[in-house]
Amino acid sequence: TVPPGRLLASRRPLPRAFEQPLRLPPVLKPTRTDATTDYYEIVQRAADLEILPGARTTAWTYGGTFPGPTITSRSGRRTVVRHRNELPRPVVVHLHGGHTPHDSDGYPGDEILPPGGRPTMAMGGHAMPGNPVMGHRDYTFPMDQRAATLWYHDHRMGFTGASVWRGLAGFHLVHDDEEERLPLPRGDRDIPLMIADRSFEADGAFRYPSIDRTLATVPGVHAAHMNGVLGDVILVNGVPWPVHPVQRLRYRLRLLNASNARNYRLALDPPPPGGQGMVQIGSDGGLLERPIAHEGIDAAPAERFDVVVDFARYRPGTRVRLVNLLGSGRTREVMAFDVSSSAKAPREDATVPARLSRIPRLDPAKAAVTRTFLLQKRGSSWQINGRDYEPGRPLARPKLGQLELWRFVTDLHHPIHLHLDHFQVVGRGTRGLGPSDHGWKDTMDLRPAEAAEVAVRFTDYPGSFVFHCHNLEHEDMAMMADFTTE
Ligand code: C2O
Ligand code: CU
Repeated sequence: TVPPGRLLASRRPLPRAFEQPLRLPPVLKPTRTDATTDYYEIVQRAADLEILPGARTTAWTYGGTFPGPTITSRSGRRTVVRHRNELPRPVVVHLHGGHTPHDSDGYPGDEILPPGGRPTMAMGGHAMPGNPVMGHRDYTFPMDQRAATLWYHDHRMGFTGASVWRGLAGFHLVHDDEEERLPLPRGDRDIPLMIADRSFEADGAFRYPSIDRTLATVPGVHAAHMNGVLGDVILVNGVPWPVHPVQRLRYRLRLLNASNARNYRLALDPPPPGGQGMVQIGSDGGLLERPIAHEGIDAAPAERFDVVVDFARYRPGTRVRLVNLLGSGRTREVMAFDVSSSAKAPREDATVPARLSRIPRLDPAKAAVTRTFLLQKRGSSWQINGRDYEPGRPLARPKLGQLELWRFVTDLHHPIHLHLDHFQVVGRGTRGLGPSDHGWKDTMDLRPAEAAEVAVRFTDYPGSFVFHCHNLEHEDMAMMADFTTE
């Protein structure tokens, strides 16, 4: 095999010799189920993986794989995931997009410590509020939510960027009856794709500018963190530039941008005759009202887009590449699909219905409260309303069940993410809503010098939650705030 160093030195797209098949994360089996609940267990541990052909990468994993195993839940059935920490550092698990009570939401301070480990200190050196536990923690997800593509990842205060970069991320899919009644592609034609950029050392190790927050004061490291850490290779489900064979049929691709800081514009190359090759059916919080045909998909960190691609629109034998129009060289290639060369098309059993789901409009004119948050750089940190994150000091106290309008005013790009409930994007200032703003969202990209508005109604669970920038280095640099529902 060619040494990975040479592969990495190449500025060009992947040479054919490095083609690897796409891998799908294993689907996690419950350890037991009863009338109301499915129980799972995940051991967080270091594992040696072969990500670059012929090289070894030590990853921090959920159960030994990167991405972690896919958890599937049935809407209305409780899911309990026991996370056991065998990594030599505290961890916190957050189900991104989950409608989750405080105790299981991965609130900072609710850490799982390794044997003999000590809780993480907040900025300023004092202990964070919260409930650290030793060894393992049971996360209980009521799953009183719609079918959607969710993901789980590490959320340890100050170290999320390093932890996710090193592998702590996985899919969590929710299914429900409404979605199952629709004639959408399923089975091996329903494919979760975790897209994440990484950099590697010549020996195959992950290269991340810091694994320790104290190092963030080193000037070069600090600068890398100010912008967010970008990788120079794009991985899909933990594989660089994979290739996947497809039949001339419709496929559902669940696109997740799990990168720490990279924005993508994903497009098909070549586009199918007539264009509009990606038909979006779902966003962060589940199905859209109607499908939307796109030429490309703009995906900020943590956003999800469920799209249907009809490979029957291509000639047999076509190689269809998924490319990132915002990248160049090796960050332009994402993956490729090889369309079956058989001239006889198999019988299609999936369609994209003209109506997908009913989405009640959240009317901003009916909002009881408007809150404004200013996201900006101050000195060498990223702040919300002039403050570094202070756990236990909420910037908002929304009433459960009440409709609110949250305005975000920003200096630069910040993908803002709210925990607990999904929102609807209702304003982008003079620019109007964008193609990524449809449906239920939990993450939206705030663009430079923008004032964007979302309508949100927090429901069911009282307690402390966070909202933050999902550029993970910005998050670690304290661009986060509490809100307390009551
Ligand atoms: Cu995906 Cu608070 O995180
Ligand atoms: Cu940011």
